[in-house]
Amino acid sequence: MKILIVGQGGREHALAWKIRQTTKVKTLYCAPGNGGTAQISQNIPIEADDLIGLRNFCEEEKVDLTVVGPEMPLSLGITDLFKEKGLRVFGPSRAAAQLEASKVFTKELSRSENIPTADFEIFEDAKKAKDFVKSKGAPIVVKADGLAAGKGVIVAKEESEALEAIDEIMVKRTFGSSGNKVIVEECLEGEEASIIVVSDGENIVPLASSQDHKRVFDGDRGPNTGGMGAYSPAPAVTDKVFNDTISSIIKPAIRGMRKKGIDYRGALYAGVMLSKGEPKLLEFNVRFGDPETQAIFPRLKSDFLELIELAIDGSLKNYSLGWDERSCVCVVMAAGGYPGRYEKGKEIFGIEKALEITDTLVFHAGTDIVRENKPLCGTATYDKKKGKVITNGGRVLNVIGLGKDIKKAIDKAYSACGKIKFDGMHYRKDIGYRAVGRLKSKARAKNIRISRP
Ligand code: AMP
Ligand code: GLY
Repeated sequence: MKILIVGQGGREHALAWKIRQTTKVKTLYCAPGNGGTAQISQNIPIEADDLIGLRNFCEEEKVDLTVVGPEMPLSLGITDLFKEKGLRVFGPSRAAAQLEASKVFTKELSRSENIPTADFEIFEDAKKAKDFVKSKGAPIVVKADGLAAGKGVIVAKEESEALEAIDEIMVKRTFGSSGNKVIVEECLEGEEASIIVVSDGENIVPLASSQDHKRVFDGDRGPNTGGMGAYSPAPAVTDKVFNDTISSIIKPAIRGMRKKGIDYRGALYAGVMLSKGEPKLLEFNVRFGDPETQAIFPRLKSDFLELIELAIDGSLKNYSLGWDERSCVCVVMAAGGYPGRYEKGKEIFGIEKALEITDTLVFHAGTDIVRENKPLCGTATYDKKKGKVITNGGRVLNVIGLGKDIKKAIDKAYSACGKIKFDGMHYRKDIGYRAVGRLKSKARAKNIRISRP
């Protein structure tokens, strides 16, 4: 089989790594890919949002299946466009992708399907939105309706912050038409978790639970990022939380979409806030999470290709997945300055050394490989002697550790991080701290001593 993966992040490297384990796969392409995918597939220099370029490539190369990583091509309608030409593709249609592309769409669906979520109001007028904020007071949350590269949500501790956010979104139009409408909603407190499933339009197969770390600094401080690390499973997701999320959030959403005539086929990610033990929907993503995928897929024992083929064919009934019981931790190593402005082109040292440690993996994100100072785009070979890996993005590497429990997985991941160096690099030192905290309180309850992480 010939397979194309669309995207260039750590998620796409992890998907490529998993798909490579399927013997049926003869040729694997990644568009545009990164320095990691270049080592296990053939990078194709076509951007993820160049839908026609991607479709032409698949027609010319007779690609059997395309797996779409990021939300942008999905919300632009890559699936619909490919299907018009009879090309096989994994990822929801443009209509289904509204679950991520429009927060207003998702809130309205939540209301009609009784999906638990923060109380909210929708506004098309800045003054009315501000009056509502003033009537409610802080803390309060302001959200731009459309895609805003993860920057369209403002959790305002002060009323003035919320009023400024409305100006940014609706008056200054920082996110363009994504700010035509805003949602102003209740601020929820609790612990967040990610539950991802694969849907065939009717049946779902859940993946293992996970938790992301969105803030840039230790202790969940500083600005939001695309995600600085993740781990799986997430102990906060008890069986009850897991089952409640599936039955009161995910299934009603898929059912609600079907009522609108929309067939939801693809990955569906529910970001939930666990307030008082009850999951409430924060957001849907219409794709696998990043960096959650990098922490989940090393634990997946089953054949990923089989899963997505069954989903495309509507045949997931009674299908389930096998999981490695161990914990998995992903630490994101970022470029100096990220999530603000950052430099590219710094040489990365020590990846090979990190990989010598057992039970570790390194998934690349913002990297490239240069040989004789030329990017290695479009070739499948990586010659360790001749090529060097350089930084090419904000989130640079995902360092993975597997272990019998979360603490051992953390130790593995950080030992591997210790071997890697590049100018300006930074990473959080506390990935998994909530899960370790739970482990400690469990141990305290049993009166067992355990050492500090
Ligand atoms: P979203 O893109 O809607 O998931 O929002 C991004 C992040 O903002 C979430 O992961 C939460 O950390 C935070 N957030 C969103 N909505 C709320 C809310 N209603 N209450 C508290 N925090 C929120
Ligand atoms: N980790 C959050 C996301 O994938 O959007």
